[in-house]
Amino acid sequence: RVYAAVLAGGSGVRMGNPDKPKQFLMMGDKPIVVHTLEKFCISGFFDRVILLCPETWLRQSQDIINKYCSKHAGQIDVAAGGSVRNETIMNAINHIETKYGADDGTILVTHDAVRPFVTYRVIEENIRAVKKYGACDTVVPATDTIVESANGETISAIPDRRMLYQGQTPQSFKMLHLKKLMLSLSEDEKAILTDACKALVLRGESVALVRGEESNIKITYPQDMRIALALVEGQSC
Ligand code: CTP
Repeated sequence: RVYAAVLAGGSGVRMGNPDKPKQFLMMGDKPIVVHTLEKFCISGFFDRVILLCPETWLRQSQDIINKYCSKHAGQIDVAAGGSVRNETIMNAINHIETKYGADDGTILVTHDAVRPFVTYRVIEENIRAVKKYGACDTVVPATDTIVESANGETISAIPDRRMLYQGQTPQSFKMLHLKKLMLSLSEDEKAILTDACKALVLRGESVALVRGEESNIKITYPQDMRIALALVEGQSC
């Protein structure tokens, strides 16, 4: 079975809109999170799509789905996220395991709710790659030169750009294997391993690359919102 976890448990501090986390802001005719949910529901690849939202937004999230996404409401479960992103992923896993059961073949595709421009091609390649390799991450080649500085004052290294990529989502996993690995992390490790793929890499496991898209942006700051609005307008032309 294949599940999607749309991660919308954050509070969007960098967007600077304390009353409404950015995933619930309108983008064109519907909230950002609805654009993202539709991609997963319409793709037809998933047995169930789980929306993880802040605990205080559980009722409103269900209302938003009923209002803007009623055609797909029967495919979507709403559950509470956690205080950090990995905890939100763990809540998705626990929800799926409790409600539907799971075995070694169960696949979880995790995606940021604030990346509404993900394409069906990227979602499909994630599913193919996770089936073949056990885990995968969506990336694009780094366009800027990446400079490393250990002390924040002077450069310690400039790695070869041809080997560098920028991480996007989806990130996809064999669900029970990811759960086992996350449960094995110490509190110190948890503080550093904020990215689920990084946890696998540091345990020596391979994570396949899926080619992302430059347009698969993450809406983080107000200027990203302006770009996103221009992109949806472009899509509807
Ligand atoms: N996320 C989540 N649960 C958390 C934290 C983040 O599901 N406890 C989700 C966010 O809702 C978002 C995605 O992870 O869809 C990417 O995170 P980011 O852009 O950093 O979102 P926020 O944590 O909301 O942003 P900020 O750091 O500005 O507060």
